[in-house]
Amino acid sequence: MGNGFCSHVLGFNGMVIILFVLISVVSGNKISEGGTKENHLPRHAVKSIQSEDGDIIDCIDIYKQPAFAHPALRDHKIQMAPSYEPTVETMAATSPAKTKTFKNRYEQSSMIVASQIWKKNGSCPDGTVPVRRFQNKGQLESNSLEAYVRNKPTHPVKQLNDDENPNSQLPNRSKAILLTLGYIYSGAKADIKVWDPSVESDDEYSTSRVSLQSGPYYDFESIESGWAVNPRVYGDKKTRLYVYWTVDGSKATGCFDLTCPGFVQTSNEIALGAAIYPISVANGLPYQINIYIFKDPNTSNWWMQYGEKINVGYWPHNLFSLIISGAESVEWGGEVYSLKLGQSPHTATKMGNGEYPDPIFGDSGYMKRMRVLDNSRILKFPEWVSTYADEYNCYDVYYISDYVEDPEFYYGGPGRSYKCP
Ligand SMILES: *[C@@H]1O[C@H](CO)[C@@H](O)[C@H](O)[C@H]1NC(C)=O
Ligand SMILES: *[C@@H]1O[C@H](CO)[C@@H](O)[C@H](O)[C@H]1NC(C)=O
Ligand SMILES: *[C@@H]1O[C@H](CO)[C@@H](O)[C@H](O)[C@H]1NC(C)=O
Repeated sequence: MGNGFCSHVLGFNGMVIILFVLISVVSGNKISEGGTKENHLPRHAVKSIQSEDGDIIDCIDIYKQPAFAHPALRDHKIQMAPSYEPTVETMAATSPAKTKTFKNRYEQSSMIVASQIWKKNGSCPDGTVPVRRFQNKGQLESNSLEAYVRNKPTHPVKQLNDDENPNSQLPNRSKAILLTLGYIYSGAKADIKVWDPSVESDDEYSTSRVSLQSGPYYDFESIESGWAVNPRVYGDKKTRLYVYWTVDGSKATGCFDLTCPGFVQTSNEIALGAAIYPISVANGLPYQINIYIFKDPNTSNWWMQYGEKINVGYWPHNLFSLIISGAESVEWGGEVYSLKLGQSPHTATKMGNGEYPDPIFGDSGYMKRMRVLDNSRILKFPEWVSTYADEYNCYDVYYISDYVEDPEFYYGGPGRSYKCP
């Protein structure tokens, strides 16, 4: 994979031009009440669906989706389905001595897969993909580049002196994660409980996700997926399904969903960036999303699968140079982005549901069925894991592998609090 174009997938000019094209493609015309008047549809939209949460989902011809505006994908031949679906799973034998100790363990292990709000109001026909329309045009114009790119670090942030952790804090980001490394990974998976944490200001976000990474610490390539509350990208504070990728540690490249060309969508069932529904509430039913990112060994494209069966789409191998041969590390957990981290007053943006890890009732950020695919090509729990928190007084971690059938990971916190002033 040559550098040049790929190392900064979109130079600033390229990005602006492509965004401009994208805006004119997707922000076209106002939808009429019936929602399907063809002369009011944006270019390439076969149909539009008005969702009760205010979103408009355009069903775009699969061959004319935003990804193909990426110069590297101009002659891309779309892969309609993975040629390989690694579904075999082995688990370490559970010792009979392991007993259930927590009272609602059963409830937590039977979380319900959440859907998306727009699906109440229609579906996209075969041959199209659902694309969430940008509606906050003002916001898009005023921040066009920044809205899509995680901010560029100005100076490296202090290294944490924690010998155990091969990690250190990235600028303006606070993580609370479970981590594995030591192999080359070609897949990672988890069930992620869905919450709607409050995000203090519009330039901040809170995500819970699975992330695969390769490359040098401040210049890594990564692909990730999970749920996010990200007002700057989405224009509101709803919890949304997202995918994200970067090729330089988010310094100059980085894209959510289809907001810049790259991710190729193949499913007509799931819209990236659409609001998830229902959301878990404390003492209520536990809802989850279930994300599986895996590399197709025949094409080296990285697929994102939702809910165990829907192949939403893929990141084409030619977006990347390092991660195409596999990921060096996998992370599960939360990340908060804010300019008010590591200082007082700390941001009050929450991670998970804003509670510190709560293994008793599961009323906190919670993931289970963490899996990786290594060169054995068998989906399994990683041989080695470690937890890590940038600011454990603000966002903490709790990992349990004993006394449970399957390891569990709890994470999150309130941000600003008496422990995190
Ligand atoms: C994918 O690769 C496997 C071997 O890795 C091969 O058996 C299979 O036929 C390939 N499938 C396609 C569709 O190319
Ligand atoms: C969307 O579906 C809901 C539930 O079926 C319905 O109450 C609502 O009126 C629909 N909204 C639109 C804009 O069609
Ligand atoms: C990170 O936050 C500091 C203030 O704490 C700000 O000066 C800097 O621009 C931010 N860096 C990025 C990459 O956003």
